[in-house]
Amino acid sequence: MAEIKTIGVLTSGGDAPGMNAAVRAVVRTGIAKGFRMVGIERGYNGLINEEIREMDLRSVSEIIHRGGTALYTARCKAFTTPEGQEKAAETCKKFGIDAVVVIGGDGSFRGAMQLAKHGIPCIGLPGTIDNDIACTEYTIGYDTAMNTAVEMIDKLRDTTQSHDRCSVIELMGRGAGYLTMNVGIAVGAIACLVPEIPFDVQKDVIDRMIAVQKTGKKHFIIVVAEGVGHSQELAKIIEEKTGIESRATILGHVQRGGSPSVRDRVTASLMGYRAVELLELGSYNRVVGLKSDAIVDYSINEALSMKKTLDPKLDEISKTISL
Ligand code: ADP
Ligand code: F6P
Repeated sequence: MAEIKTIGVLTSGGDAPGMNAAVRAVVRTGIAKGFRMVGIERGYNGLINEEIREMDLRSVSEIIHRGGTALYTARCKAFTTPEGQEKAAETCKKFGIDAVVVIGGDGSFRGAMQLAKHGIPCIGLPGTIDNDIACTEYTIGYDTAMNTAVEMIDKLRDTTQSHDRCSVIELMGRGAGYLTMNVGIAVGAIACLVPEIPFDVQKDVIDRMIAVQKTGKKHFIIVVAEGVGHSQELAKIIEEKTGIESRATILGHVQRGGSPSVRDRVTASLMGYRAVELLELGSYNRVVGLKSDAIVDYSINEALSMKKTLDPKLDEISKTISL
């Protein structure tokens, strides 16, 4: 493998607060270690459409506190084809990009594997509000998204309480319930419905509401993960079966925005630094993660083969204390 002189950095898949802090850390660490740094815009699209820009110390000024990603992001269908990957590798050669740091989720790491197969060493950094990346206990953006969701649900709670209503709130998280379960505990939701834990609407929602109503409770918060969905229908069923007026709210993309929390800024900074350090050490095609508060790394293959589960104890705790 030829010596690495130039490192590219891109953000891919859904954006997440803290991606900017990660880009900043990668660029500044790279410059400090004597690499030429370039930004690749709009995820893998930038490698197909040659949207590449030189990055200096000032290119990443004033972004650490901003949500979104200054490099833009995209889901790039063309890159999933052999022709697209060929073109991306050619662009790397044309612009002298010897290695790429990919900030995104599992899909983006699968893309990085393909780039690696074309001779471009890659490092993956976990960036997604879903916290659904198996090789890491924490993903950049998760803390901010949880705080945003809690802030909004606290507002919903005011109106839910004033009307003696039930609010069914749908949170993001594709096939994962981490965001929903933890936010549910933080807001005292009487039911947290997530794809990982089987539930029965009658037993876990309706019967529970009726039982708790008898203790004097008059308003209810129920959180539902996107992967479970059907929040409007659920609100209707609840109203029909309990007589409690119910409304559904889908929080949506607002959960992906906003200034990153301290945790996201710091984690992104440590991970960004480690990404460049790995390339400097010649440790290629790795994904950086967090384990027991330590920064760790795994081969991309191993990272993608790992499994992560939502601790069912969280559900037990939630059911015990939120009623
Ligand atoms: P995330 O990275 O958040 O999981 P996606 O699954 O949408 O998001 O993946 C982001 C991008 O990564 C895709 O749009 C595509 O360009 C690339 N990608 C995903 N899966 C593959 C794959 N199997 N091969 C090559 N590229 C992929
Ligand atoms: O992966 C992050 C995420 O926000 C998921 O929670 C959600 O399912 C998805 O991205 C939404 O993607 P899009 O931005 O394409 O609507």
